[in-house]
Amino acid sequence: MRIFTKLSPPLCLLFVFLCLKTAFSSSIHASSFSTTHLCSHEEALALLQFKTSFSINYTISDPYYCGDHFYTKPNYSKIESWKEGIDCCSWDGVSCDNVTGHVIALNLSCSFLYGTFPSNSTLFFLRNLQSLNLASNDFRFSKIPPEISQFTRLKHLDISYSQFSGQVPAEIAHLPKLVSLNLSNEPSDLILETTTLKNLVHNLSEVRELELGGVNMTSVNPRFFMNLSSSLTTLNLLESALRGNFPNSIFRFPNLKNFYLSGSIGERNLIIDLPSSNWSSPLQQLFLSDMDCGSRLPESIGDLKSLQSLGLECNLKGSIPASIGNLSQLTDLDLYSSNLSGQIPPSLANLTQLISIDLSFNQFSGPIPFHARLNF
Ligand SMILES: *[C@@H]1O[C@H](CO)[C@@H](O)[C@H](O)[C@H]1NC(C)=O
Ligand SMILES: *[C@@H]1O[C@H](CO)[C@@H](O)[C@H](O)[C@H]1NC(C)=O
Ligand SMILES: *[C@@H]1O[C@H](CO)[C@@H](O)[C@H](O)[C@H]1NC(C)=O
Ligand SMILES: *[C@@H]1O[C@H](CO)[C@@H](O)[C@H](O)[C@H]1NC(C)=O
Ligand SMILES: *[C@@H]1O[C@H](CO)[C@@H](O)[C@H](O)[C@H]1NC(C)=O
Ligand SMILES: *[C@@H]1O[C@H](CO)[C@@H](O)[C@H](O)[C@H]1NC(C)=O
Ligand SMILES: *[C@@H]1O[C@H](CO)[C@@H](O)[C@H](O)[C@H]1NC(C)=O
Ligand SMILES: *[C@@H]1O[C@H](CO)[C@@H](O)[C@H](O)[C@H]1NC(C)=O
Ligand SMILES: *[C@@H]1O[C@H](CO)[C@@H](O)[C@H](O)[C@H]1NC(C)=O
Ligand SMILES: *[C@@H]1O[C@H](CO)[C@@H](O)[C@H](O)[C@H]1NC(C)=O
Ligand SMILES: *[C@@H]1O[C@H](CO)[C@@H](O)[C@H](O)[C@H]1NC(C)=O
Ligand SMILES: *[C@@H]1O[C@H](CO)[C@@H](O)[C@H](O)[C@H]1NC(C)=O
Repeated sequence: MRIFTKLSPPLCLLFVFLCLKTAFSSSIHASSFSTTHLCSHEEALALLQFKTSFSINYTISDPYYCGDHFYTKPNYSKIESWKEGIDCCSWDGVSCDNVTGHVIALNLSCSFLYGTFPSNSTLFFLRNLQSLNLASNDFRFSKIPPEISQFTRLKHLDISYSQFSGQVPAEIAHLPKLVSLNLSNEPSDLILETTTLKNLVHNLSEVRELELGGVNMTSVNPRFFMNLSSSLTTLNLLESALRGNFPNSIFRFPNLKNFYLSGSIGERNLIIDLPSSNWSSPLQQLFLSDMDCGSRLPESIGDLKSLQSLGLECNLKGSIPASIGNLSQLTDLDLYSSNLSGQIPPSLANLTQLISIDLSFNQFSGPIPFHARLNF
């Protein structure tokens, strides 16, 4: 049995005895390894070469946004802990299979990496990667390298907000094990073609989270989304530049929790018809904007018992149905500029969890049924 102790360098210095002991035990038992490191020499080298392809540029605002939180600006990037002579499995952001020693996960999100992403990157040497997170770096409008398809074991890929641009390569559809894919970006930098999307939908039969916010899909036929995996839990298509009819069968997806969709800002050439019955999805977050939502806000909206956040800025007609009072989990209600009229239903007063409500730019009449902070 081999003993692998993942001590960070400072700890290792403190406990010299323990480090030596670990090294000693491994060198005895790990006969197939020439080093005492869990990480192979080749993979360590590949990572070190990857590191040298970028500079580390801390020129960002303070505090800065990373993932879903603001952080105060650090003076340290994870990649700075990557040093020769130290087991790469103990480097910040690197995770190894504890038996084979292969690097299986890399998380370099918000690591201030700055520079173009080379298509011959030594990163592609890490064939055992199951998870790759390069979100929130600055790859200077590089193309997403088609070589990405060499990561055949990849389950999680997050390269969002990393300043990739150009066409999403067709090879993105050759990663059939993907469970989550996040390509969200600043609007208009990345373009996804209809054939690539079609193949993606067809091949990613395990996908649960698909985030394509800001990806320009102007040429995509929205009907292809109806064939997404029934395992889908999150679909982010904000600022998608999609046009045409979006299949409302999306509301029957049995596992869908988060659905965000918007077309081109200020335009209404994307249409989705809210279903009048048979919503089957356990939706928690629903946001639709810059599009047309068919006609009325259906009475059946009250069936979505798990709904926490409802945002419909999408040209509805008629009034708010009384059933809205059944959405007992609702914390956020946004019906901004939705062309609604009539009385605000008294049942709204039953939504005790509401934190934020925006009913502005509609034509409501009659009394306001509750005392919440209002934005009319
Ligand atoms: C760091 O990034 C800023 C803006 O993102 C850029 O203007 C500057 O030239 C970069 N510095 C270096 C040394 O690359
Ligand atoms: C990318 O999407 C995944 C899956 O939904 C999510 O967990 C992750 O936080 C997203 N990344 C960023 C930077 O928002
Ligand atoms: C980073 O800043 C902390 C204090 O915020 C300081 O203790 C530490 O020495 C700094 N590290 C480097 C590498 O500058
Ligand atoms: C290896 O990792 C797996 C999952 O991360 C864990 O369940 C297992 O206990 C670990 N084995 C050893 C020997 O550390
Ligand atoms: C990846 O790194 C970021 C930034 O350090 C951290 O917030 C996030 O929790 C990490 N993700 C995982 C899955 O470890
Ligand atoms: C990648 O290609 C560039 C030139 O296109 C070359 O300078 C560099 O050495 C190559 N890197 C590797 C790791 O092969
Ligand atoms: C699906 O993925 C496989 C590789 O896993 C690839 O050979 C095939 O071309 C892909 N199909 C499509 C339609 O992209
Ligand atoms: C999307 O890409 C098309 C060209 O493919 C371009 O004409 C259009 O302006 C882009 N839309 C946005 C919002 O950037
Ligand atoms: C969805 O999949 C079915 C069955 O594979 C196929 O017949 C249909 O054409 C597909 N629809 C779209 C819009 O891709
Ligand atoms: C709703 O579901 C019921 C029972 O499954 C079915 O009979 C009905 O046709 C469905 N309605 C619509 C509009 O799909
Ligand atoms: C939902 O709301 C409507 C109108 O307020 C009410 O008649 C109905 O009983 C409610 N249904 C449930 C299941 O709470
Ligand atoms: C609020 O909920 C209570 C209990 O479910 C119900 O009796 C009452 O009719 C509701 N009020 C409105 C205005 O819907």
